[in-house]
Amino acid sequence: MKKLSGLIAALLVLTLAFTGCSSNTGSEDTSSEGATTAAAESGIPDKLIVGTNAEFPPFEFVNDDGEYDGFDIALMQAVCDKIGCEMEVSNMEFKSLLGAMQLNSIDVIAAAMTVTEDRKQSVDFSESYYEAKQVIIVDKDSDIASFSDLDGLKIGVQEGTTGDLFVTPGEDGALVQNAEVKRFKKGVDAVMDLKNGGVDAVVIDKNPATEFVSSNEDTLKIVEDDAAKEEYAYAVAKGNTELADAINQAVEELKADGTYDALVKEYINE
Ligand code: ARG
Repeated sequence: MKKLSGLIAALLVLTLAFTGCSSNTGSEDTSSEGATTAAAESGIPDKLIVGTNAEFPPFEFVNDDGEYDGFDIALMQAVCDKIGCEMEVSNMEFKSLLGAMQLNSIDVIAAAMTVTEDRKQSVDFSESYYEAKQVIIVDKDSDIASFSDLDGLKIGVQEGTTGDLFVTPGEDGALVQNAEVKRFKKGVDAVMDLKNGGVDAVVIDKNPATEFVSSNEDTLKIVEDDAAKEEYAYAVAKGNTELADAINQAVEELKADGTYDALVKEYINE
């Protein structure tokens, strides 16, 4: 018993030492401070380090006050309020999130991340919380009408996303086999490149596409293809069922009490 409380005290000190010094500003934070091995082992830490890529409105972005904001951030904050833990955002490139999870520098990924078989090899997913879809952004007068029309073209994507996989020849589930893929760290940069004639189309998730196109409606349009439906879920470290279960239960309660719908309305269907 004495040994056990000693161990708990040691874990607590470790957790505090590692989580105490992370920042929560709008700047990029790829440091490995934050979640600890202790946190991952104990399932639910006092402070949840939430990994994201805040370049993906309406799901995650930095708002005008320089704060992390968006549907995922708000829903995860509501989850934390239910679970009774604090939350801190760790912002990084999208393609770095799975590695950060494996290094235990984050506890959960909240990044409009699509559930894929490949990702399931390295993380566990919560129940899915949003039905999504990849769409194609093209010039307003383009005749591109489906993924099959993208063969032989130059396509812009956000690196490491399912949009990237869909147009990369040889990838599992690829819908395009002959495209030249141009990868960007931010989806919005791919859209800028499309506007500048650098690529023929951009493949990206529907809701961010709607946001990016809304400010360019005179020149760009969105093409939908039902072949590219997918589901978003939160990711936790492999085997951390305690945290996954807590998230699932909290989201279920937030759906039942109307919070989830209110957040969809506020961020997605405004
Ligand atoms: N849903 C896509 C995927 O999982 C794109 C997600 C990008 N998210 C972000 N926060 N940048 O690959």
